[in-house]
Amino acid sequence: MNNVAHPAARLDLPAIQALAAGDMAAIDALIRDRLASDVVLINQVAEHIVSAGGKRLRPMLVMLAGRATGTISAEHHQLAAIVEFIHTSTLLHDDVVDESDLRRGRSTANAIWGNAASVLVGDFLYSRSFQLMVELDRMPVMRILADTTNRIAEGEVLQLLHVRNPDTDETAYLNVIERKTAVLFAAGTTLGALASGADEATQRALYDYGMQLGYAFQIADDVLDYSGDADALGKNLGDDLAEGKATLPLIHAMAQATPDVRARLRAAIESGDVGALPDVLAAIEAAGSLEYSRARALAYAEAAERALAGLADNDAVAALRGLARYAVERGH
Ligand code: IPE
Ligand code: IPE
Ligand code: MG
Ligand code: MG
Repeated sequence: MNNVAHPAARLDLPAIQALAAGDMAAIDALIRDRLASDVVLINQVAEHIVSAGGKRLRPMLVMLAGRATGTISAEHHQLAAIVEFIHTSTLLHDDVVDESDLRRGRSTANAIWGNAASVLVGDFLYSRSFQLMVELDRMPVMRILADTTNRIAEGEVLQLLHVRNPDTDETAYLNVIERKTAVLFAAGTTLGALASGADEATQRALYDYGMQLGYAFQIADDVLDYSGDADALGKNLGDDLAEGKATLPLIHAMAQATPDVRARLRAAIESGDVGALPDVLAAIEAAGSLEYSRARALAYAEAAERALAGLADNDAVAALRGLARYAVERGH
């Protein structure tokens, strides 16, 4: 790996993708190969969501963390596939829980095949990821992934408890996003370093990077739910309000609003009424809540970059820095 010219250089997305292209092709082939089942419906549903692509950010993190701290082996590819399988299974489940009908620019699996098929194929992908894990036969890997998947499930249930609850505050919100999103990012980067034989301190740095990046990424996702472009996003806007989910922009707007506006926002969350979206958008606009949320996301992205400070610099470290920026500047 060549040293980059400037120690704090950040690669942009095309450069990051070019750096990771060979690995990502290998991972994609592995994912396709290991999706297979002789149950036709499993292949149909899994193919539907996997062939739609997605950003493949989590497997990319495994590879870049691996390259940032050592050399890549087949174990990295397998870990990357495992992490993407887990992610994909949570998306199948999430779209059922959220009653979403658009994902990756396509109708969701639940919209096409129904909730039962989506949940069950999600379970298939989940358990397939555990089969892939066991093949690696490494207890530290299994421990990280078992703990991670357990935390994700906690996060999803915790979020459920906050649905239609207008008293959800920033602390509760951060607690949910750590579990539902950030822990999988952190697992990906930790595993990449672990498979490269990195020492404990280096693994810890990559863990911290992944965790901070995960917060930044989910806050940015929650901003995009109010401000993005549905075509670019491949998801519908306003889903969070429709689900009665109070995310950071709305939590901030509520805290800033006058009592009568606050009462309207509380009612919108309690009813999960998308009809209130114009009102909610106006309150978010008046309070500067998108700017506030973007600034919070950027602060997490900067913390992610700082976590890398002790690493010997190389192209992969520059790519990780670039991804931290991309997470908060992206339009999809
Ligand atoms: C969606 O993740 C779920 C969140 C954590 C917001 P991504 O935005 O990474 O989804 P894909 O894989 O690119 O579709
Ligand atoms: C992310 O939350 C859920 C998972 C971690 C699976 P969201 O509900 O915001 O994700 P999207 O917006 O549907 O992708
Ligand atoms: Mg959702
Ligand atoms: Mg979202």
